[in-house]
Amino acid sequence: MADSNPRLVAVSNRVGPLSDEGQAGGLVVGLSDALKRRGGVWFGWSGETSKEGTQGEAKTEVQENVEMTTIDMSQEELQGFYYDYANRSLWPLLHYRLDLAEFDRVSDKVYRQVNHRFAVRLMPHLKENDLVWVHDYHFFYMGSELRQAGYKGRLGYFLHIPFCAPEVFSALPASHDIVRALLAYDVIGFQTDTDRCNFVSFCISELGGEKLDEDRVRVGDRTVIAKPFPIGIDAEGYARFAVSPEAGEHEEMLLSMTRDRRNSDGEGAERKLIVGVDRMDYSKGLLERFYGFERLLEDYPENCGSAIFLQVAPLSRSELDAYAELRDELERTAGHLNGRFATLDWTPLQMMTRGFTRKALAGIYRAARVCLVTPLRDGMNLVAKEFVAAQDPEDPGVLILSRFAGALDELKCGCIVVNPYNTDDVAAAMQRALTMPLEERKRRWEAMREAVFTGTAQRWCQSFIDMLETSHHEPAAQTSS
Ligand code: ADP
Ligand code: G6P
Repeated sequence: MADSNPRLVAVSNRVGPLSDEGQAGGLVVGLSDALKRRGGVWFGWSGETSKEGTQGEAKTEVQENVEMTTIDMSQEELQGFYYDYANRSLWPLLHYRLDLAEFDRVSDKVYRQVNHRFAVRLMPHLKENDLVWVHDYHFFYMGSELRQAGYKGRLGYFLHIPFCAPEVFSALPASHDIVRALLAYDVIGFQTDTDRCNFVSFCISELGGEKLDEDRVRVGDRTVIAKPFPIGIDAEGYARFAVSPEAGEHEEMLLSMTRDRRNSDGEGAERKLIVGVDRMDYSKGLLERFYGFERLLEDYPENCGSAIFLQVAPLSRSELDAYAELRDELERTAGHLNGRFATLDWTPLQMMTRGFTRKALAGIYRAARVCLVTPLRDGMNLVAKEFVAAQDPEDPGVLILSRFAGALDELKCGCIVVNPYNTDDVAAAMQRALTMPLEERKRRWEAMREAVFTGTAQRWCQSFIDMLETSHHEPAAQTSS
């Protein structure tokens, strides 16, 4: 019989902080918002390496009503598990970038070992009626490892990034092992129905599984629930951030930068700030976005002198070649664009890599007339939802959203949808957004607001937990690694 309010134990590679300090990454933001409300334990990596690696002492810190317990990794684990396997094999593969994916058996082995060690280290912290909820592509094997270590409680898993099509996923040498290991969980959550369908198709075509109904798939003697649970934000909280003094200062700074700008005909200009806020990652379509902005200035020259594109792009995983190369390419492209179009008093494209607090970011979103969220592939994209939540209801901005973002399902009611690979399409969408009448902007924003304020982080968490609590529970002896 399940406890009436069982303790939630979340497991992820990155842990916290719960505060408004501004760490870029949707998992930490979404999970913090959800855990703050519910309370519980959050277990994962300390963010540090030490000689003892995971054999070292666990550190526990209580933030609000959440107990954060973390352990170190060794340098070898960080390299093999995090950089090589998670971010050189799995991340590009799951984002459809087979051209960037590299597979090797050494990192495969280290990845499995780290999953094993983290599971073993977590075991002493678990109680009988806990709900264990494992997150993201770093811990595919965690569930089966916990079962092998004797954990008999409920086990859920949520994938924050896309689950790619089976024909792509099957390129991964360990694809069968990983999906079999996932079957140790009772509930497997995805961002979108497309991700769920890809997973179920893999189970059927590669493992001889069978779809029992909309939510359940059986492979051999294991039946699991596979279901979309789109992640959200703390929308009320975010809307409050957007009217805080700190947000106001940032908003005002940006408004004063764009307020008095004249367009190319010397006419007084409307506010024309376009923003993008993304980790510097090749999945985000940043280069394609820069090309789109360049095309806007070429094809709609009335924006010259007045439109400013601010790209906030905190550095991410810079030790990996693909990320370092992307940075070079972005800096080169921004320099080229500015060299071509800038005037003595106007710099069209500004890119910055600094971190911001969440309140400051909310102010940046609120100052923008247009927000570009144009990933080539993205699990959800919380930035799109934050932008909506931060808007001034009397003068809301316009969201341009990629057809390849998970957030499209919920926000297509009000955004302008683009194909990020189509430069003309992106430029035309920017022009349409910059010139959109107030009434249309309000109508579109209100529809999106409804979706963002309904599908919150708290609801995401609660609906997953409800499913986990009611799911049929039959722990199986699993083999994974
Ligand atoms: P991903 O998880 O792939 O990074 P998301 O859009 O889902 O993409 O989440 C990114 C999160 O990181 C958002 O909550 C966003 O506000 C935050 N973020 C992005 N850039 C910054 C920054 N410069 N400073 C602080 N937080 C940032
Ligand atoms: C995405 C992933 C997260 C990850 C974050 C930041 O949101 O889904 O698991 O934490 O990016 O990446 P990093 O490699 O810095 O943890």
